[in-house]
Amino acid sequence: MMIRPYGYPIRMERNQLERFKRWFTEYSGRFLGDDEYVNANLRLKQEHTARTCSEIVHLAQELALDDNEVRIAELTALFHDVGRFPQFAQYRTYNDLRSIDHGQKGVEVLRAERVLDSLPADERQWVQTAVGLHNRKSLPSTLKGRALLFTKLVRDADKIDIFRVVMEYYRCRRNNPQSPCTLEIEIELPDTPQYNPEVLDAVTNEQAVDWAKLRTLTDARLCQLGWVYDLNFTPSLRRIDECGYLTDLIGFLPQDDAIQRLCWKVLEYVDLRLGR
Ligand SMILES: [Fe+2]
Repeated sequence: MMIRPYGYPIRMERNQLERFKRWFTEYSGRFLGDDEYVNANLRLKQEHTARTCSEIVHLAQELALDDNEVRIAELTALFHDVGRFPQFAQYRTYNDLRSIDHGQKGVEVLRAERVLDSLPADERQWVQTAVGLHNRKSLPSTLKGRALLFTKLVRDADKIDIFRVVMEYYRCRRNNPQSPCTLEIEIELPDTPQYNPEVLDAVTNEQAVDWAKLRTLTDARLCQLGWVYDLNFTPSLRRIDECGYLTDLIGFLPQDDAIQRLCWKVLEYVDLRLGR
């Protein structure tokens, strides 16, 4: 690590970020092969990574972070799903419950490949923490400072792009109900209107949903609706609202009384938080 003449380490430079991007392209490409099913699913994650990077840069700029912080934020987005590639190659699923914790796997990959060795120790730690915790149901209360900031940023940016991915998936299912979509998403559940009342209760009470409780795609959609309470930054909520994801998502839910009440509650919360 280089030291400036007046004593503190030089932070991550733009060209360093470009090197990390080239490493990511090379690493994720290692898992492409003859199996087109695997390739298509891996490309989905390459694309998700690129979009999460642009979402986080947009978010970090909205929050007026400085240039170095924006670069670190982008790095967390670049690597947040690096564990997805070995996960899918080995298990042919993105379902963590049936395979491995892909956030933790991502940290193992970064360590084993010594990817972050050129970064100052504090920045390396923030990136590893954000990657390792980006997919946790909730965050440990001990998490503080920049580690917490970058973890919150990547969780929001990830959710913004997952909204796009799953809305495309739901539309695909609706338009081709007979033929299964060729792309795997984390959710492998039957598309039926039934739902688990425990999921509805958790979302109504603004609590994180235990993924093991999801039994149908309706449960998954309810859980996703509850993400509005888990978004850390108002610009993230504004982005999801501007893209029309919430209205679209509500359109995919069966409208019984309990769900309608929940939808009104969620929309009221969004209005309040966006100052409308
Ligand atoms: Fe992820």
